[in-house]
Amino acid sequence: ATGQLSDRRGRPLHDLRISITDRCNFRCVYCMPKDVFDKNHVYLPHKDLLSFEEITRIARLFVAHGVEKIRLTGGEPLLRKNIERLVGMLAELRTPSGQPLDLTLTTNGSLLAKKAQSLRDAGLNRVTVSLDSLDETTFRRMNDVDFAVADVLHGIDMAHQVGLGPVKVNMVVKAGMNDQEIVPMARHFKGTPTILRFIEYMDVGASNGWDLKEVIASGEVARRIGAHMPIEPIDPNYAGETAARWRYSDGSGEIGLISSVTQAFCADCSRARLSTEGKLYTCLFATGGHDLRALLRSSHSDAEISTAIGRLWRVRGDRYSELRASQSSKDGTALDAGKKKVEMSYIGG
Ligand code: GTP
Ligand code: 5AD
Ligand code: SF4
Ligand code: SF4
Repeated sequence: ATGQLSDRRGRPLHDLRISITDRCNFRCVYCMPKDVFDKNHVYLPHKDLLSFEEITRIARLFVAHGVEKIRLTGGEPLLRKNIERLVGMLAELRTPSGQPLDLTLTTNGSLLAKKAQSLRDAGLNRVTVSLDSLDETTFRRMNDVDFAVADVLHGIDMAHQVGLGPVKVNMVVKAGMNDQEIVPMARHFKGTPTILRFIEYMDVGASNGWDLKEVIASGEVARRIGAHMPIEPIDPNYAGETAARWRYSDGSGEIGLISSVTQAFCADCSRARLSTEGKLYTCLFATGGHDLRALLRSSHSDAEISTAIGRLWRVRGDRYSELRASQSSKDGTALDAGKKKVEMSYIGG
């Protein structure tokens, strides 16, 4: 027992997001644009990745520090070989009070139909699936690898069938690209167990050429949906939740609005991120991480690594989205535009 950990802004550590591969079979324009992630792009060599044993060891120390939720991300996490074995190892972890973790995963859905049952059997609780459009042309333009909508929808159905629901669907809204799909997506998932969440296009990483003009504010998303299907705000599930929750007034389900650009949610941010090669990032927009792998691989004890994690969290003061909000309202550019922010595919969504 390490006791309750809290950072410089009084924020606890509740959520650990682990990137298990920097590779992906999609080339989403807002994340891994083809011109940057081309044949010449160098991915991490296998020896640099944390092994399943290393990941589980780190995760266990984070859980002792108060983490209750673990999300596997990437890249595309289902591309990592034998991911079921890792899920099985993490599913055995228990919080200090003996509870199992909320163990989940973010995927593009391409391999989900095939893997849903084995992931469930290994102990995964639920999944979040990215889907940016129901229109074939628009979806292919966004994933840039000609992947079909129907295959992702099939993956979502399989996830529900095997008990990995309720599935959350993430739609990144990019103006002029897929914003005409906001209402059709809402209509499609209304009245189903799937919870659709609209994400404001963010200036994460350094390669997507972010421009404030391509962001559709969540307020506008709510207005467009509300014009067809009345919605009303409901209470968050917990403080620091990324999505603001809304429900259809006729009782046919809920949606979420993730507004990191227009309504930063840093004040209660309890998320830590572990990169594919074992660096700890205390913010999605960080320019540097802390090398935990070096500690793992130089025979430091659990107690020493645990102390290092605690020290890093206590000095954490990150609130990038809040700072960007105050700047980009003036000139519409990303903060730290000159610095090399890490890519989402490396640090994990
Ligand atoms: P659950 O709702 O519990 O399933 O988890 P979650 O809200 O953390 O959801 P998810 O991991 O699906 O996050 C949704 C999206 O929100 C991500 O893909 C990011 O685009 C964005 N996001 C998540 N965490 C952060 C964060 O700490 N900062 C910012 N700016 N954006 C985030
Ligand atoms: N802006 C917002 N969300 C993004 N994601 C990746 N890049 C961006 C971006 N620039 C999110 C998407 C996807 C998840 C893996 O990461 O939600 O579902
Ligand atoms: Fe791959 Fe997800 Fe990034 Fe798209 S958003 S390129 S699916 S990691
Ligand atoms: Fe947390 Fe950084 Fe996102 Fe703010 S910008 S919510 S501090 S990860």
